[in-house]
This record gives sequence, structure tokens and C-alpha cells, in this order.
Amino acid sequence: MIKPDAVAAGNAGAILQQIEGTGFEIVALKMIRLSAEQAAQFYDIHTGKPFYDFLVNFMSSGKIIAAVLKKNNAVQDFRTLIGNTNPAKAEEGTIRKLYASSMELNAIHGSDSDENALIEANFFFSNFERY
Ligand code: CMP
Repeated sequence: MIKPDAVAAGNAGAILQQIEGTGFEIVALKMIRLSAEQAAQFYDIHTGKPFYDFLVNFMSSGKIIAAVLKKNNAVQDFRTLIGNTNPAKAEEGTIRKLYASSMELNAIHGSDSDENALIEANFFFSNFERY
């Protein structure tokens, strides 16, 4: 998911180009604005954490781009591509190093396991929207 900060800054196209250029195939793609309830549901696993309310508020503050990506070893390779959650600790050339401004406004989200990737893909897309 490309987050509201990156979409608002006009970085979505460059980020998608970097994703495709690193060997990921886009299987599904859409731009939407999440309601606060939808953002809360998506990040349910973080309920109760100190950053949760800010996260829900931020993630419903503007348009996001959701995508399902396909590649061998996709989860791990995508996490390498996007870099550390905190852009100050992210490797040079990673998406968060290039486009994130803080741990909270960090440009992009990637699933942390195959299991969660399926749950998150199902959150955004029906079977008719995947190719
Ligand atoms: P994301 O990959 O979308 O998963 C959960 C998000 O919560 C994370 O990126 C950050 O934007 C945010 N987050 C995680 N840990 C912290 C933290 N310690 N402080 C603030 N925000 C955090």
C-alpha cells in the first residue's frame, strides 16, 4: 500500500516504477480513500499500541494505492525494497529512504508474511480484480 503522504506528494508513479523495475508483477491495483473504520480494521493487529490512533487517523487522511504483487520470495524481497520502518535507518535507495519523512509518515506498507499478504489482499480486492 502506498500511503497518503506519498500519494499526496506525487510520488506514487515513481514508487510503482521502482516496484516494477525490481521484478515485481502487479496482480491487482486500485486507488481509494480508507474510512477511519477501514484503516482501524486493516491495522487491527496494532490496536492498543501508542502509535495506533495516529496511524488510523493518518491512513484515512487521504488517498492510498493498494496493490497485490507477485514475485518469488515476494514478502522478503519487498521488505528489502521498501527499507526499515524508520526512514532514518533505511538503506540508501530504498523506497522509505527516498520518500518517507518519519516513522509515522513512512510512504509505504508491505505485508510481513505470506499469511498476512493473503489477508491484506483479501481486504482490498475481490477475485475479479486480480489478474
Ligand atoms: P507499516 O508497515 O504500515 O505497519 C504499521 C505502521 O505503524 C508502520 O508502518 C509505521 O508507520 C507505524 N509504526 C510502527 N511502529 C511505530 C512506532 N514505534 N512509532 C510510530 N509509528 C510506528
